[in-house]
Amino acid sequence: MKWTGLNELREKFLEFFESKGCLRLPSFSLVPKDDNSLLLINSGMAPMKKYFTGEVTPPRKRVTTCQKCIRTPDIERVGITARHGTFFEMLGNFSFGDYFKHEATAWAWEFFTKVLEMPPEKLYVSIYEDDDEAFDIWTKEVGVDPSHMVRLGKEDNFWEHGSGPCGPCSEIYFDRGDEKGCGRPDCHVGCECDRFVEVWNLVFTQFCKEEDGSYSNLDHPNIDTGMGLERITSIIQEGETNFDTDLFLPIIHAAEELADVKYAEDKMAYRVIADHIRTVTFALSDGAMFDRAGRGYVLRRILRRAVRYGKNIGIDKPFLYTLVDVVVDNMKEFYDYLPEKAEFVKEAVKKEEVAFHKTLSQGEKKIKDVIAHSDNKVIDGSTAFMLYDTYGFPLELTIEIAEESGFTVDSEGFQVEMKAQQDRARAARGERESMASQKIDLMDFTTPSTFVYDT
Ligand code: ALA
Repeated sequence: MKWTGLNELREKFLEFFESKGCLRLPSFSLVPKDDNSLLLINSGMAPMKKYFTGEVTPPRKRVTTCQKCIRTPDIERVGITARHGTFFEMLGNFSFGDYFKHEATAWAWEFFTKVLEMPPEKLYVSIYEDDDEAFDIWTKEVGVDPSHMVRLGKEDNFWEHGSGPCGPCSEIYFDRGDEKGCGRPDCHVGCECDRFVEVWNLVFTQFCKEEDGSYSNLDHPNIDTGMGLERITSIIQEGETNFDTDLFLPIIHAAEELADVKYAEDKMAYRVIADHIRTVTFALSDGAMFDRAGRGYVLRRILRRAVRYGKNIGIDKPFLYTLVDVVVDNMKEFYDYLPEKAEFVKEAVKKEEVAFHKTLSQGEKKIKDVIAHSDNKVIDGSTAFMLYDTYGFPLELTIEIAEESGFTVDSEGFQVEMKAQQDRARAARGERESMASQKIDLMDFTTPSTFVYDT
């Protein structure tokens, strides 16, 4: 494997699939078009659902893209694990009733072992437990050692999100070695630790899940694949994590200039900041905006989280807006429209940061007030929740401030209030249609609220 920069890697992938007859399309906007079931585009296939169902004719039956995506269900893990992020670029190749399992598997292997020169002994392949056809193709045609094949169940190897096109999938994993693992004797492909990294997902989209939960056969089987550029970059550049690559390090280094502590001293804070400012920069450049509800609320929470981690490294003033240019510079080679949006994005981010700092100081006053008037040295659950819901105070921040005065916080009571609010929100929303899980996860993360917020 040879160290390869992010722009070259992206290009190699797209060129390789062009050589297989795929039409290269630009990334679709992060803001879904004609699809109310999603707040933000979360995969390469999401903007192409109508090509899969046959409702709309694609410009060609073979397509390749590098799609901007945002996923937030794992936001709390960003910075803790090597590979979670809220914004990522998904490299994909797609067949709409054209090539199927034989070609998709062979080409994936060719790209990894010939183009990127990845050692086959480091690669493992998972398949859906019942998919004997895929097992035979991988082992007999592609030449994968059967001892590197793993069968996994529906939870891991069946791609579906709510209703719509779906099917069994097959994933290629890279073994980062023993030392990256959890050390458990049963650590294996599919383990949540950082040893076996799932790099490429090949979905054999052959079914359509109906609203009533039943499956029908699609008129023609399709291929949907997705490989996170961040993950493949970290493997090829041998970064300790996705963040230790040329995708994130320029942002991290720029943030270091503003902070009291270095990256090595609080990696999590830097990783959160670098990830979240990418998310916000790309979403705002695509026309999304901070708001009190929905998509804009997701973005507001993401930005606030980054502000909070900024405080952890000693940055107690608006600063994220200064990182927008770093993101733009790093990504403009491929996303050439970014520079013309940069000024607007910076303005919006700065305004949002200023407003949040104001909210934070109001909240701090409120906590101090509660502390001054309490005689049992406990901040109760409903007060902690009010601080969270009205002032945007994350529980841990309330705990931190409370501890400074020798107080504790009733975290359990807080969780009870939080759950009640989520239940109310979910009941109000009702069951959603296609790709529901993503939407509900996003909403759970955001918890609709009545933030005190002046814009
Ligand atoms: N749609 C598949 C995924 O996102 C490829 O993993």
